[in-house]
Amino acid sequence: MLNWDDPLTTLAGKPGEPKMPPPGAAPASPPLATPTLGNHRTGPRPTDDIPPTIAGAAPVVDPNPITRQPDLALREPELATHAPQSRQAAEGGGATGLETLERGAGRVRVDDKRIINCRADLNQLVPFKYDWAWQKYLDACANHWMPQEINMNADIALWKNPHGLTRDERTIIQRNLGFFSTADSLVANNLVLAVYRHISNPECRQYLLRQAFEEALHTHAYQYAVESLGLDEGEIFNMYREIPAVARKAEWALPYTQCLADPHFTTGTPENDRELLRELVAFYLIFEGLFFYVGFVQVLSMGRRNKMTGTAEQFQYILRDESMHMNFGIDVINQIKLENPHLWTEDFKQELVRMIRDAVELESQYAHDTMPRGVLGLNAPLFDDYLKFIANRRCAQIGLPEQYMGATNPFPWMSEVLDLKKEKNFFETRVTEYRTGGALSWD
Ligand SMILES: [Fe+2]
Ligand SMILES: [Fe+2]
Repeated sequence: MLNWDDPLTTLAGKPGEPKMPPPGAAPASPPLATPTLGNHRTGPRPTDDIPPTIAGAAPVVDPNPITRQPDLALREPELATHAPQSRQAAEGGGATGLETLERGAGRVRVDDKRIINCRADLNQLVPFKYDWAWQKYLDACANHWMPQEINMNADIALWKNPHGLTRDERTIIQRNLGFFSTADSLVANNLVLAVYRHISNPECRQYLLRQAFEEALHTHAYQYAVESLGLDEGEIFNMYREIPAVARKAEWALPYTQCLADPHFTTGTPENDRELLRELVAFYLIFEGLFFYVGFVQVLSMGRRNKMTGTAEQFQYILRDESMHMNFGIDVINQIKLENPHLWTEDFKQELVRMIRDAVELESQYAHDTMPRGVLGLNAPLFDDYLKFIANRRCAQIGLPEQYMGATNPFPWMSEVLDLKKEKNFFETRVTEYRTGGALSWD
């Protein structure tokens, strides 16, 4: 049983697995901590009674709230966009959390809180409204890892052995380090300079801060791999300006974040609120939820064949983080839909579907470019099917119709890779001599 959502689990689940809880059902209590990833990892971990389509123990937001809440959908757009906030919260809050303090302003109430366009005080984390966001923050902290914990010795020996890897295998490593080394920085910059400003909810911001740190860890992991293998860092880090298949994905995403990062951009109109939703779909659903997956499969395939196992383990931890990021983004999108049903028009849905279909084409080109010939039992046509399978799942996760009839998953083992409890002894690369905060001296 998986601990984390991934694109490879069918929506219906497997026979014998628990069903998804009905929308609005109370979340299961988080189980007690079971440290499995090192002596410093503690905190709640999900157990096997958690459905695989839920990240950790966190509840999820219904992707089809409008059809289940017709009364909400029928409200006038203006009412939904500018739902009356309590007088106290409106007086005490602001758009960013950096406004001048107003002494004596009323206390925040749960009902004051909203994902976007909220004026309740953004510096007050509690009372919680969105349990799924807070639980994801806890889950992410409970799975902390550092790149230098992973032993790269076997990778270094294999890479330096002229007969250790084929040319195609080296291409896979270099191209993916090239793509991911800048892609994660791009995601981090998007988070802190664009998304964060417009999410007006403290528990969601708390998760965003954790996610931003994890993106820094991911960039660190790629730098660590590049340094360990003695690769040309200029070639790797500048690849997204030099190799078309790598550049195209960043070029596709950049306009979305540039729009939101504009200091004059603010949410609060249907047009701009849709712009934010569009950007969240572009980055969480597509960039992190689709553009990363050819690379993940390729590098993890090498690990499964006992090649570049340290690099593969780095990618395994990153994949787990990314799965959480994507699930958080999906919940944010669905919650915004729930609170602003007027945004979710037929035209807008069709636009999002077109974005997803274009992204499948782009990622398919990436698969062909990085894998011109068959390698590791993989070939580009397999990825075409895989990407369509993932795209169907992404559509369903935000309440859009599936686009590719009959698409199947050619890599069912990817589901297993997400379960580190099961796989942690697979690569056998973890070192034990790393230093943690416990090594600090106060003398
Ligand atoms: Fe990342
Ligand atoms: Fe991410």
